[in-house]
Amino acid sequence: MAAYFILLCIFVSLAIASYVLYAIRRQKRKPQGRHDQAVLKLPPGSMGLPFIGETLQLYSQDPGVFFSSKLKRYGEIFKTHILGCPCVMLASPEAARFVLVSRAHLFKPTYPRSKERLIGPSALFFHQGDYHLRLRRLVQGPLGPEALRKLVPDVEAAVRSTLASWAADGDAASTFRAMKRLSFDVGIATIFGGRLDERRKEELRRNYAVVEKGYNSFPNSFPGTLYYKAMQARRRLNGVLSDIVRERRAQGEPGADLLCCLMQSRDGGDHHDDGALLTDEQVADNVIGVLFAAQDTTASVLTWIVKYLHDHPKLLEDVRAEQAAIREANDGGKRPLTWAQTRSMTLTNRVILESLRMASIISFTFREAVADVEYKGFLIPKGWKVMPLFRNIHHSPDYFQDPHKFDPSRFEVAPRPSTFTPFGSGVHACPGNELAKLEMLVLIHHLVTGYRWETVGSSDEVEYSPFPIPRHGLLAKLRKDNSVGVDNKECKTDDNCDGEVNCVIIQ
Ligand code: HEM
Repeated sequence: MAAYFILLCIFVSLAIASYVLYAIRRQKRKPQGRHDQAVLKLPPGSMGLPFIGETLQLYSQDPGVFFSSKLKRYGEIFKTHILGCPCVMLASPEAARFVLVSRAHLFKPTYPRSKERLIGPSALFFHQGDYHLRLRRLVQGPLGPEALRKLVPDVEAAVRSTLASWAADGDAASTFRAMKRLSFDVGIATIFGGRLDERRKEELRRNYAVVEKGYNSFPNSFPGTLYYKAMQARRRLNGVLSDIVRERRAQGEPGADLLCCLMQSRDGGDHHDDGALLTDEQVADNVIGVLFAAQDTTASVLTWIVKYLHDHPKLLEDVRAEQAAIREANDGGKRPLTWAQTRSMTLTNRVILESLRMASIISFTFREAVADVEYKGFLIPKGWKVMPLFRNIHHSPDYFQDPHKFDPSRFEVAPRPSTFTPFGSGVHACPGNELAKLEMLVLIHHLVTGYRWETVGSSDEVEYSPFPIPRHGLLAKLRKDNSVGVDNKECKTDDNCDGEVNCVIIQ
C-alpha cells in the first residue's frame, strides 16, 4: 500500500512538474512583433488529411484556383499543410512586405534539401546573414547598369542568333525551347564574359540540362533515376567549372564578369588582403545558382511576351512602330542597339511589365519562421513555412483594375507600393531583374522589326515546367519579314571605335 502511495505521489509530482515546464515554455514562446501579448490563434484554414495535408488539392488543379478558393473562404491570411509542412499563406501586399522586407530577419529562405544538393548548398539564395550579404554584393556588380551597358552587344548577338536559327527551322517549334537557349546563352555571357570556348559551353549546356531534368523529380539515389543522373551531372559540372577556374588563375587576367568577381572576392572586403577567398565549391555553387535562377524564369516570361504580342495585333503594331523608329535610327539595323536606346522603349517597357504581371511566373515564394511571429493578431509558429502569394496580389481587382485584361497602359501610372513584385522584394529580391528586362527589350526589338510569327494549335492552355507557360511551350512558326530587309547580321561593337560596328553575316 505504501509503495502504491509513493508511486502515486511520484506520478502526481511528475504531472505537476511537466505542466509547470509546459507553462514556462509557453511563456517563453512569446511571439515576436508585439510586447503586450494576448493569447494568439492560428490563422483560419484547413490542414487537410494527416501527413499529406492539402498537397493533392494544390497539385491536382490549377494552383490559382486552389489559392483563390481559399482566399474567398478564409481571407488574405490562411493556414494549410503542403508537402509535409504546415504553412501560412499571405495574399496582401502588407503581409508580403512584412515577411520579405520589414521582418525579413524572422523568416529564412527554405528549400528542400534534395534541391539544395542539386544546385549547390553554397548558392546565395539558400542563405541569410553575412554570407548572403557578401554574395549578394558580389553578384550585383556584374548585374548592375554599368556592366549591363557593356553586355548589350552580347545580348543582341544571342538574340539575333536565336531568332535566325528558329526561323531557319521552318516548322512550328516550341517558343519556350528557343527562349531557354537564349536565356542560357545570355547567362553564360554574363557569368564568363564571352571568355568561354564553345566546347566548354556545350559541356556546361549538356550537363546542366540533365541537372534540370532531375530537379523536379522524386529525389532518390538509385542508379538510373532522373535524380541520380542529375547528381552525377552536377558533379561533372563541378569538374568543368574547376578546370575553368584553374585556367583563369593560370592566365592571371582579371576581368569584370561574374566568375572573376566570385574568384577574387575576399572575406571582409577586397581591401582585406588576408581575407579568405571563396572555395572552388562555393564559386561553382554560385555559378550554377545564377544560371538556374536566370534561365527558366526569363525564358518563361519571354514565351508569354511572344504570345501576348501575337494575341493583341493592334498593340503589336504600336510596338512595331516604336521599334521600327529605333531601327531606322540605327541605319535600318546596321548599327547595334545602344543601352540608351533600350532605356527609351516606353511602350515596349510597359508591355514587359504587364507580361510580368499577367504571367506572374513566380506565383509565390517560401520562407520559414525562425521564431513564433505575430501578424495581425495571428500566430505564425516557429518552423512553419510562410508563402507570400505574388500572383494573387498581381491578379487582385483591389490593386489592378480589370486584372485579367492584358493592358500595358495600366503601367502609365506606377502601381501602389508592394503590389507589383514579379522580382520579389527585400534582401532576396532578384538581382538579375535588369538583365532579364534587357533581354526582353532586345528580343522584342528584333522579333517585331525583323520577323512575323504564327502560333500553332491552342495556346490558351497552360502547363507547368515548373513555371506556368503556354501549352507545349507555345508552338510557333517564325519567318523573316522580307518587307524590312534581312535581319541576319551579327553586329559586334568594336571596343576601340565608339559605336562603329563590324557586321558579320551569319547565314
Ligand atoms: C523574368 C525573369 C526573372 C524573374 C521573374 C525572377 C524572379 C525572381 C524572384 C521573385 C526572386 C526572389 C525569390 C525569393 O524572394 O524567394 C529572385 C531571386 C533571384 N534571382 Fe531572379 N528572376 C528572373 C531572372 C533572373 C536573372 C536573369 C538572374 C541572373 C542573371 C536572376 C538571379 C536571381 C538570384 C541570384 C536570386 C536570389 C537572390 C537572393 O537570394 O539574394 N534572376 N528572382
